[in-house]
Amino acid sequence: MTEEVVVLDYGGQYSQLIARRVRDCGVFSELLPSHTPLAEIERRKPRGIILSGGPASVYAEGAPRLERGLLELGVPVMGICYGMQLLVHELGGRVEEAEVGEFGRSDLTVIEPGVLLKGMPREQTCWMSHRDTVIEPPPGFTALASSSVSPVAAVEDAERGIYGIQFHPEVVHTPYGQEILTRFLTEVCGCELTWSAAGIVEEQIERIRRQVGDGKVICGLSGGVDSSVAALLVHRAVGDQLTCVFVDHGLMRKDEGEQVVSAFRDTFKVPLVAVDAERRFLEKLKGVTEPEAKRKAIGAEFIRVFEEEAAKLAGGDSDEGALPPDGAPDGSPDGSPALSPDGPPTGARFLVQGTLYSDVIESGGGTGAATIKSHHNVGGLPDDLKFELVEPLRALFKDEVRAVGAELGLPERLVWRQPFPGPGLAIRIVGGEATKERLDVLREADSILQEEIRKAGLYRELWQSFCVLPDVRTVGVQGDERTYGYVVVVRAVTSDDAMTADWARLPYDLLETIASRMINELREVNRVVLDITSKPPGTIEWE
Ligand code: XMP
Repeated sequence: MTEEVVVLDYGGQYSQLIARRVRDCGVFSELLPSHTPLAEIERRKPRGIILSGGPASVYAEGAPRLERGLLELGVPVMGICYGMQLLVHELGGRVEEAEVGEFGRSDLTVIEPGVLLKGMPREQTCWMSHRDTVIEPPPGFTALASSSVSPVAAVEDAERGIYGIQFHPEVVHTPYGQEILTRFLTEVCGCELTWSAAGIVEEQIERIRRQVGDGKVICGLSGGVDSSVAALLVHRAVGDQLTCVFVDHGLMRKDEGEQVVSAFRDTFKVPLVAVDAERRFLEKLKGVTEPEAKRKAIGAEFIRVFEEEAAKLAGGDSDEGALPPDGAPDGSPDGSPALSPDGPPTGARFLVQGTLYSDVIESGGGTGAATIKSHHNVGGLPDDLKFELVEPLRALFKDEVRAVGAELGLPERLVWRQPFPGPGLAIRIVGGEATKERLDVLREADSILQEEIRKAGLYRELWQSFCVLPDVRTVGVQGDERTYGYVVVVRAVTSDDAMTADWARLPYDLLETIASRMINELREVNRVVLDITSKPPGTIEWE
C-alpha cells in the first residue's frame, strides 16, 4: 500500500507546494482542506500529518481551529507557520502578535537540534512569512531554534510526535528545507521514500484494470502531454480495449498532428482513429471573428466529430439512434448537439480524461462526482456525457505527469510540449476570421519561432511561446518595393501555473534571428513585434 502523508490546508500560499515537496522526497502526499473530517483522515492511514501555513491569526474570530482528535491518532504531526502557531496555542504555549512581522529571508540559529534539526548547521537561512510569533513553547516541548524576530522558531515534543516550524521548508529560499522535510518523513514518520514515476505507473495500471474490467475505452487525444500520458497508461493497462480518437481540426501547430499519429499508431501501436476535419472546422469558422464565438464554434464541432467517430467505432450507422441530426431540437442551448441520453453510442463505457491534481484542487477538491473540464481541454466535451471517466492522472502534478510520460517512453517532444489551447491557432488570429490563408501564415511563423527557441535551448524554460496574427496589415519596403503585409506578434512568457505570467526576456540576438527569418521566409509578413505585457494586466493569449 502506498504510504501517504496528509497536508492539511489552512489557506497558506505555499500549501500545495508542501505536498509537492513531500512527493519530491519520495512519499505520496495530498493536500486536504483543514476542515476534512477526522474519519476521512483516519481512513487514509497516513504516516504523518502536516498542518500548513495560513493567513489567519490564532486569536482572530473564525480562525481555523485544530481538530484535537488529530493529535490522538498516534500519527506524527508537524505544523508549519500558522500550523505551528495553532499547535502551540492549543497546547498551552504562548503566541503573540508581534509589532513587526518577519517576511522574507531570515537568519535561523539552532539552539537544540532535537530530532528534527539533528545534523543541521547551527546557523542557516530560512524563509519566513508571518506576523504572530511564538514566545514560549507549550509544556513538554523543547524550543529548537530562534531567529532575529522569532524567539521560538521551531519546537518539538518527540515523545508525543508533535513538531512545529515557523519558517517555510517547502520554498527554495530555505536551503535546508528539503532536508528537514526528509528528516520528518524518515526519522519521525518512518516512511520509506518509495514514491516515484515508476511506482505510479504500476499502481495506476492495476487501478485502471480494476475499474475497466473488459469494458471498452475511448480517449480523445489532443497532442498535449496530459491526454498523451493518460492514453498510454490506459493502453498499458488494457491494451486494445482502448481506442484513441485524434481530431485534427486544422488549427494545430505545424507537424504536431503527424507527430501524435506517428507516436501513437506507429510506435506504441495504440488503436487510433485520426480524423482530418480541417475543412469542416474552417467551414464553421467562416465569418466568425468574436473570440468566444470562435471557441463555441470549435467546441461544438469537436463534439460532433467525436460523436460521429464514436458511433463508427461501434459499427453503427451515424444516421441511426445515437446521434441527433444537425440542429436537432434536443441540442444543447449553444446549438451543439447533445449526446444520446441513453449513453454513449460506442459500446465504450469509459472515457479517458487527462485531469490533473491541480485541476481537481482548482475545481474545489477531490471528492464528489468527476466533472469534465470545459475550458482547458480539447474542445470542451459537454458535462452530460454518459461515460464513466477514467482519470489516471488525477493524483499527479504536472511534473510527475512528465516523469510518468518519460517512464512510459513518450518522445521528449511530447513529454515537454508547452501548453496549447484546445481551439488552437484560431484564437491566435485576432480581430478577424481564422481563414486557411491566415492560419497557414501563422503556422509557418510559429514554426520558425519554435525552431529558434528550441535551438537556443529555451523551450523548456518558457511556459509558452507562440505567435499571434492580428488582422492588420502594415506598410513596409522590401527590395525597393512597397509591401503591405501582416504583422506577427511574438509572445513568450514564463509562468508556474498560467494564473500569472511574465514576459520572457529573450536575448536580442535571438529576437533578431526570429524576426529576420519570418520576414525573409514568409512573403506575407513584413513586420514582427514583441509583446511585453505581463499577466495581469494582460492574459497570455490575445483572445
Ligand atoms: P489566458 O489567455 O487566460 O490563458 O491567460 C491561460 C492559459 O489557458 C490557455 N487557454 C486555453 N486553453 N482552451 C484551452 O484549452 C481555451 O479556450 C483557452 N484559452 C486560453 C492559454 O494558452 C494559457 O495556457
